[in-house]
Amino acid sequence: MRQSLISSAALIGAAQALNYTCTPSAIQAVLPKGANVNFAHPVATNGTFETPNGDTGYPNSPPNLPALCAASIQVKSVDNTTFGFGIFLPEEWNGRFLAVGNGGFAGGINYLDMAAGVRYGFAAISTDTGHNSTNSNGTWAYNQPGNVENWGHLAMHGSVVVGKEITAAYYEQNVTYSYYSGCSTGGRQGLKEAEYYPEDFDGIVAGAPAWWTSHLQPWTLRIALYNLPTTADYHIPAALFSTLNAEVIKQCDPQDGVVDNIISDPQGCNFQPTTLLCGSSSTANASSCLTGPQLDTVYNIFSDYVGENNTFIFPSFYLGSEGQPIFFSGNAPNALGTGYVQYFLGKGPQWNFTDYNDDIVALSDAINPGNATVGFDLSRFHAKGGKIMSYHGMADPLIPTGSTPYFYDHVTRTLKPQGINVDEFFKYFLVPGMGHCSGTQTSMNAPWYFAGGNQQVALANDIYSVPGFEDEEHDVLKAMMAWVEEGRVPEYIIATKYINDTTHDKVLRQRPLCIYPKQAKYTGEGDVDDAAKWECKALY
Ligand SMILES: *[C@@H]1O[C@H](CO)[C@@H](O)[C@H](O)[C@H]1NC(C)=O
Ligand SMILES: *[C@@H]1O[C@H](CO)[C@@H](O)[C@H](O)[C@H]1NC(C)=O
Ligand SMILES: *[C@@H]1O[C@H](CO)[C@@H](O)[C@H](O)[C@H]1NC(C)=O
Ligand SMILES: *[C@@H]1O[C@H](CO)[C@@H](O)[C@H](O)[C@H]1NC(C)=O
Ligand SMILES: *[C@@H]1O[C@H](CO)[C@@H](O)[C@H](O)[C@H]1NC(C)=O
Ligand SMILES: *[C@@H]1O[C@H](CO)[C@@H](O)[C@H](O)[C@H]1NC(C)=O
Ligand SMILES: *[C@@H]1O[C@H](CO)[C@@H](O)[C@H](O)[C@H]1NC(C)=O
Ligand SMILES: *[C@@H]1O[C@H](CO)[C@@H](O)[C@H](O)[C@H]1NC(C)=O
Ligand SMILES: *[C@@H]1O[C@H](CO)[C@@H](O)[C@H](O)[C@H]1NC(C)=O
Ligand SMILES: *[C@@H]1O[C@H](CO)[C@@H](O)[C@H](O)[C@H]1NC(C)=O
Ligand SMILES: *[C@@H]1O[C@H](CO)[C@@H](O)[C@H](O)[C@H]1NC(C)=O
Repeated sequence: MRQSLISSAALIGAAQALNYTCTPSAIQAVLPKGANVNFAHPVATNGTFETPNGDTGYPNSPPNLPALCAASIQVKSVDNTTFGFGIFLPEEWNGRFLAVGNGGFAGGINYLDMAAGVRYGFAAISTDTGHNSTNSNGTWAYNQPGNVENWGHLAMHGSVVVGKEITAAYYEQNVTYSYYSGCSTGGRQGLKEAEYYPEDFDGIVAGAPAWWTSHLQPWTLRIALYNLPTTADYHIPAALFSTLNAEVIKQCDPQDGVVDNIISDPQGCNFQPTTLLCGSSSTANASSCLTGPQLDTVYNIFSDYVGENNTFIFPSFYLGSEGQPIFFSGNAPNALGTGYVQYFLGKGPQWNFTDYNDDIVALSDAINPGNATVGFDLSRFHAKGGKIMSYHGMADPLIPTGSTPYFYDHVTRTLKPQGINVDEFFKYFLVPGMGHCSGTQTSMNAPWYFAGGNQQVALANDIYSVPGFEDEEHDVLKAMMAWVEEGRVPEYIIATKYINDTTHDKVLRQRPLCIYPKQAKYTGEGDVDDAAKWECKALY
């Protein structure tokens, strides 16, 4: 692994006193060689931090902030590259440090998620991962291994090291505890930190982790190609996905024991798509039934991706994910797949998705761009007493839900023979009806909000914690703090669904999300929308 140019040994303890001085020169004075201030200025109470023009990944400005010092730093990295990071230092500091994550291939400093963190009192940072782009634009990776290594892990680690140094100098006090919270690529960044840089964090909250980069991105092509070209007899048009989704809900919602439009146990559902098979041509309604070839596509979409010689490549979607058929709209696969092969695997912009085959997976494994894929040996993070909480929406239409149980099982296979009880330091829960990181389809209205990575901004840009329920039972980050700092082991997180996701004083329903392998079961009495009427039960 190529090392970051920033060496942590040279940093901690070297800090000069800043005593809350928020100027470029004061912060520059405490930076290590190779790091330079882009800007530093205070933001007054209830002020807006104006995100600088050109933050392509995260252009929005967080409003209604607590009083803080905002700064951005540029750090030299490998191959003549640099990465940037932003830092918010609140006047009322809780003594702790928080790093937030990114999404997809996006390059930019995620100021909105930093703002969500600073409302708890954290000194909060976010890295731009070393480039500047939208979520699905991967051109920056083309023949630029330094850029890819920054994105893979160097930028996050380097930003954490320098960010902690600034924090200690600013407050003239070392950070007490360090946390991480991110989703999607952000989830991957958190797990990667646990694997490579176990000293960086005490607690890591990793949502819908895109941890298996080398297989997830090729799968993104494979899954779309099952339904292409649009002229094929097996192609399922977008409107028919609604029909399919309605049938999945009809069959799988009751099978979990409670009829509420929420599929709580998609893996326990014995779905029969043949009920949608078109009848004779005289009665067939092509917009509400599936032909035989279209049924094959349904089977493909819900089957694991298995390559030559029965080699497992990637898990399938869970039932319910078809409600948001993001990878099945349009006449080409998503750029997160095609762009990966073109720019991360070096095939170039002329490469055509119609040439996709399993050799791409082998190439992807061989290159493992930027060492982004997370390995299973988290023993060093365990040894230092670190804690991980992961979660995944059961209706995630971008990263198959099953990839999180797969990761957990393989960490267990790696660590149990070393005598490590994984459950001691790593837990995860699945979120019935939640899509990718946040939200739920309107016909399900599933409780999905628990202040995870990216979730606050899905409600509004100035949300703190879980409005009305700002405690460790409802807020996954507070649950992590209680686990790390007080040793209180989380057994569930109560998810909240606000009416229309807009009125944050009116709750539609709440429900416990149980730590795997327990499942939430209705007690059989009382309001199903009341979390207290549910319990977490072990099924074995
Ligand atoms: C990162 O990737 C390089 C090149 O493939 C490899 O030599 C190195 O071992 C990897 N680093 C780690 C920490 O696995
Ligand atoms: C820090 O600044 C405050 C306010 O200006 C001052 O009262 C305090 O004495 C300073 N502390 C140190 C250690 O310089
Ligand atoms: C904060 O600013 C908003 C406008 O962004 C304003 O409506 C609100 O009254 C202000 N709150 C306080 C406490 O000043
Ligand atoms: C990021 O890219 C945008 C759009 O291409 C550009 O306007 C902006 O200057 C770039 N910002 C940085 C910091 O390079
Ligand atoms: C970095 O820049 C120096 C000076 O311009 C150049 O000699 C060197 O080849 C560059 N290295 C890489 C990896 O691009
Ligand atoms: C992707 O980013 C590159 C470099 O900034 C830019 O030239 C290109 O137009 C972008 N592509 C899309 C589809 O936005
Ligand atoms: C901060 O931690 C470093 C390294 O453990 C230590 O050398 C230093 O004295 C600490 N500083 C304070 C103010 O506690
Ligand atoms: C076919 O099904 C669609 C969707 O269910 C419905 O809107 C339409 O009225 C149906 N057409 C006929 C001729 O039954
Ligand atoms: C599958 O097995 C054949 C015969 O052993 C071998 O030649 C081929 O390389 C294998 N393919 C993969 C992807 O492992
Ligand atoms: C890829 O190939 C298809 C089928 O040959 C063709 O229709 C399409 O235009 C090609 N796309 C690109 C970007 O070259
Ligand atoms: C929620 O949205 C629905 C449909 O748009 C609307 O009828 C209802 O009034 C909204 N409820 C609230 C509390 O805003």
